Amino acid sequence: MYLVASISRSCNEIRDTRYEMRDTSMNHFTITFKPDNKQISIHAGATLFEAAGQAGIILNTVCGGKGTCKKCLVNLEPDGREVLACQHHIQSDLTVTIPAGSRFFEQKILEHGIDTQIDLAATVHEKYQEKAATEKIFGIAVDIGTTTVVAKLINMTDGECHATEATLNPQSRYGDDVISRIAYAQDDEKLAELHKAIIECVNDLTTKLCKKTSINSKHIYEMCVVGNTTMNHIFLKLPVIQLGQAPYKAFSLDAHDVPAAQLHLEMNPAGNIHTVENIAGFVGSDTTAVALAVDIYSAEEMTLVVDIGTNGELVLGTKDKLYAASCAAGPALEGARITCGSRAAEGAIEAVVVNDEPDGTGIDLDVIGNASPRSICGSGLIDAVAVMLELGIIDHTGRFVEKEKLEGKVSPAIFSRIREEQSQPAFVLAENDGAGTVYLTQKDIRQMQLAKAAIRAGIRLLQKRIGLEDCDIEHILLAGAFGNYIRKESALRIGLLPTVPVEKIRFVGNAAASGAWMVLVSRHCRETARELAGKIKYIEIAHEPEFQDVYADSMLF
Ligand code: FES
Repeated sequence: MYLVASISRSCNEIRDTRYEMRDTSMNHFTITFKPDNKQISIHAGATLFEAAGQAGIILNTVCGGKGTCKKCLVNLEPDGREVLACQHHIQSDLTVTIPAGSRFFEQKILEHGIDTQIDLAATVHEKYQEKAATEKIFGIAVDIGTTTVVAKLINMTDGECHATEATLNPQSRYGDDVISRIAYAQDDEKLAELHKAIIECVNDLTTKLCKKTSINSKHIYEMCVVGNTTMNHIFLKLPVIQLGQAPYKAFSLDAHDVPAAQLHLEMNPAGNIHTVENIAGFVGSDTTAVALAVDIYSAEEMTLVVDIGTNGELVLGTKDKLYAASCAAGPALEGARITCGSRAAEGAIEAVVVNDEPDGTGIDLDVIGNASPRSICGSGLIDAVAVMLELGIIDHTGRFVEKEKLEGKVSPAIFSRIREEQSQPAFVLAENDGAGTVYLTQKDIRQMQLAKAAIRAGIRLLQKRIGLEDCDIEHILLAGAFGNYIRKESALRIGLLPTVPVEKIRFVGNAAASGAWMVLVSRHCRETARELAGKIKYIEIAHEPEFQDVYADSMLF
């Protein structure tokens, strides 16, 4: 498994040494990747997925290499035969073309959080003032997401952010969701492998931050790390097996302070790493950080925080009572399990609106990177379904209306987009030469309904706990990578969120990173985070007696 490549330089060096050692005992083949024109040598029997990784090309791996998601398709030259990279074992020299849709592209990563109004009295730095011979005392705030990692370089003396860097979480090659990471890290050796991947990733980000700001890493004395409970445990090399089995208990909910030297992090060896308190097995320190950053502990009015990342986390309440839940939304809102779905990467349709000009195309699209549309990401999916509902192409159960019944009711341009694809009714969003057709099938609509129902059911069950109607909610704060790219109107139209006036919905950016920043520099915020984690009551929504009914009801539009 160590053949899986790391994107970090240090790992490349280790790996190169290992390959040199293997050269003497095993057949090697040369693999050329196009269009990158990268060439590597790899031993017989390795998969193309591993070879691509070694070449520094990260492929989609929604199923964690089980061969079921079909998102890692590549073409073997010269005849262009399609194979799954994770299933194809190398037995000869090969030239392989990687289609854009199979790449785990540099997706849009949300680096910025809310502008916190909280008085950030930077007090943590005081403990380093004697140790540091100079005035320079810096810290790093890190948000480890399942998919992305964001790091901020902070001046510990005044709390100012000097630079932000973000990258994909290299653990993605072991699977897209926390469940596949937990499944992988079943023994100490595999846990150590995942741990090493994230440490190297944080070190890479630190190196980039230092380069960008001309700051020496020896002036970094403190690091604050937040993430979901699985990411938190892997970072600290704590066991994760119990997170994959009922009752899904965390090994530790506590904050940890670890000497920098122990974790081999790129900073002053005398420094300290602080991890924030987790709330439960599936609600981690990133949610604690979000709750801190949005100031929910002093909220007078009923506030709902929805953090839709790879998983969905919810916090609902006021300063008096706070509840949290986790929703197993599945990866559909990130484009997985959707026929033409992808992450928010170049070429992905991110917005869809109706164009009702008489000779128009029926719909207008926004595509990431101004490229030809070749896939659809979560925000585009929500928009597209909202448009299909608006036009009457699907009904409130999500079923495609028979095409004949739509004749004369929708414009000819829209009518011509309703076709059959993969033996199912489908709505065509884009057709272009070379990049293929982008469409949504009946099955895709069902997948998105499952995801939105999970989130909405979670919200409804929390509302029931407190005895709240939708109209009682004064603020909805959308946090996280996904939440910040969706259109509020579309989210309301498909019933993802409670029915509230659109002006009550606000985006708060990467609030987890903002919370990590606050905890990094302020003792007071550290204390508040501790109190919040203790105060927020976790509700296991799947155990609520009405779960099945509420979930089924939430499937409807
Ligand atoms: S089919 Fe290859 S990673 Fe899923």
